[in-house]
Amino acid sequence: MSETLDLTLKVWRQEGANAPGRYVEYQLKEISTHMSFLEMLDVLNEQLNEKGEEMIAFDHDCREGICGMCSLMINGQAHGPDSGTTTCQLHMRRFKNGDTIVIEPWRAQAFPVVRDLVVDRSAFDRIIEKGGFISANTGNAPDANAVLVPETVQETAMDAAACIGCGACVAACKNAAAMLFVSAKVSHLSTLPQGKPERASRVQNMVTQMDLEGFGNCTNTEECQAACPAEISVSNIARLNREYLRAQLCSKE
Ligand code: SF4
Ligand code: FES
Repeated sequence: MSETLDLTLKVWRQEGANAPGRYVEYQLKEISTHMSFLEMLDVLNEQLNEKGEEMIAFDHDCREGICGMCSLMINGQAHGPDSGTTTCQLHMRRFKNGDTIVIEPWRAQAFPVVRDLVVDRSAFDRIIEKGGFISANTGNAPDANAVLVPETVQETAMDAAACIGCGACVAACKNAAAMLFVSAKVSHLSTLPQGKPERASRVQNMVTQMDLEGFGNCTNTEECQAACPAEISVSNIARLNREYLRAQLCSKE
């Protein structure tokens, strides 16, 4: 297998949220198969910079699959062809010499394009903000086993807490629904004893904000689960629906 790749990239370029966008084609030669996808984009940007052309804007931070910033639609797949993998963890050995790679931003009304491949995901921040606080005493750190939590509950909460807020679930969904993201955040807190006191108001407020932000409705296609780099399960969506129904039925208003 060749250690380098010659590639054609078709990259979405857009100067701002209200500017018209277009695909621009770039030729890249001798890209190492050991590079990550973002390193490959770095090489392209260096070449553009040397030619005095505008570099391609794309989001990234940790480059370790933790922060959820890297957000690219690669050949029509959120985060590219590997399951359970963020764009920053995708390697060029996954592609073949002579491949054409189409790179786009997330497409969703609630994620407007900022520039090129960067979208504004602050809608997620506003949903989190609406989730509010949990009732935890401040002061000294509590003893490790002061509140006993069954192992199955711990695992459910920790699996949900793995969500990195990348937005791939929204980008992969034909309805641009944010149910997987919201369900992960609701499950993370509602399953643990510390998150129980505000559980009804939390789910109601987060779902209300999700709808206000313009995300679509879930129609159970499960594309979100397939695209999620943190492998968040759609069983969390079922839990979200149960939590929401419970909150509505038990509401004092
Ligand atoms: S649920 Fe998965 S795809 Fe959606 S924001 Fe969280 S980590 Fe990303
Ligand atoms: S850059 Fe942080 S998850 Fe990809």
